[in-house]
Amino acid sequence: MLILGIETSCDETAAAIIKDGREVIANVVASQIKTHEAFGGVVPEVAAREHLDTINIVVNEAFDIAKKDFNIDPDDIDAYASTVGPGLVGCLLVGLNAAKALSLVYNKPYIGINHLQGHVCANFLETDLKPPFICLLVSGGHTQVIKVEDYDKQEIIASTTDDATGEVYDKVARLMGLSYPGGIKLDKLAQEGNKKAFIFPEAKVKENEFSFSGLKTAVLRVVQSYDKDNLPVKDICASFQERITKTLINKTKKLADKYGIKTIVLSGGVAANSELRKKLFALQNEGYKTFAPQMKFCTDNAAMVASCAYFNPIKTDEPLTLEAFSRN
Ligand code: KG4
Ligand code: ZN
Repeated sequence: MLILGIETSCDETAAAIIKDGREVIANVVASQIKTHEAFGGVVPEVAAREHLDTINIVVNEAFDIAKKDFNIDPDDIDAYASTVGPGLVGCLLVGLNAAKALSLVYNKPYIGINHLQGHVCANFLETDLKPPFICLLVSGGHTQVIKVEDYDKQEIIASTTDDATGEVYDKVARLMGLSYPGGIKLDKLAQEGNKKAFIFPEAKVKENEFSFSGLKTAVLRVVQSYDKDNLPVKDICASFQERITKTLINKTKKLADKYGIKTIVLSGGVAANSELRKKLFALQNEGYKTFAPQMKFCTDNAAMVASCAYFNPIKTDEPLTLEAFSRN
């Protein structure tokens, strides 16, 4: 089964064609980072307009790659999918309407997917991973631990009470004067710093909760205690990264133990983080099976959308009536 997926929930315009939920035929991503850099973050209206300008280009490129590399024609595509939410509604509408239009033109089904379930499915791309597993989903908008019992049977077993992990990364990066998108820059600087330079606190919350506002404030206090020119940026980055990744992995491990599941996987943009991946893979020494999506499938992409359309679509008898939504 060949599915063309489209992703436009935030600041990436993406189209991909995936065979049977796992095999990548074409994967095209156009990032808007350069556009939003000047504003220090994503401007929803600007993002939506850029999706409109780019959507036909990325879809055509996906079709072209499929033809050139696999001799697949548009008529061979079995279904068209897009992210329905959560995300920026003006942005989502562009991908949703493009996928619905393609489905009507080629007379094939339209499939809607939830962006978060899409991130989980990034783990199925070019792997043979099968449920059950525990998934730590860390993105710009969410921090969740999800018990994936089967492809379409998932339960959120922990989530954040305040900021999402990517959000904390971006805010802490900004405190230190790093420009948008801060998460990846913070990660790079952290690799050159001393992770023991500062001891940041861990929030005392329930086993099914994360909270990062205290950590954010603790970093702010340290930043304020230096004058700007002498700020030990690399050490603060390393110490912050050590604290947050330790909390995320320890908590996920405890929940995996609680539910007796020995496979742990990552997903979402922060799954690209070097230290988080290192700590996850180190769990193999303790008898866990671990997976993380390839780097290109961590941040927003359409390959995960097409995979999710195959494994875990939004269930409805009338997919063409699905409407974009901003929050879960
Ligand atoms: O999943 P994603 O592409 O978009 C959302 O669905 O939110 O995640 C984007 C988030 C941003 O907050 C970005 O700063 C963060 O992922 N991110 C990282 C890294 N790469 C991306 N955070 C920490 N370390 C990274 N290497
Ligand atoms: Zn995302």
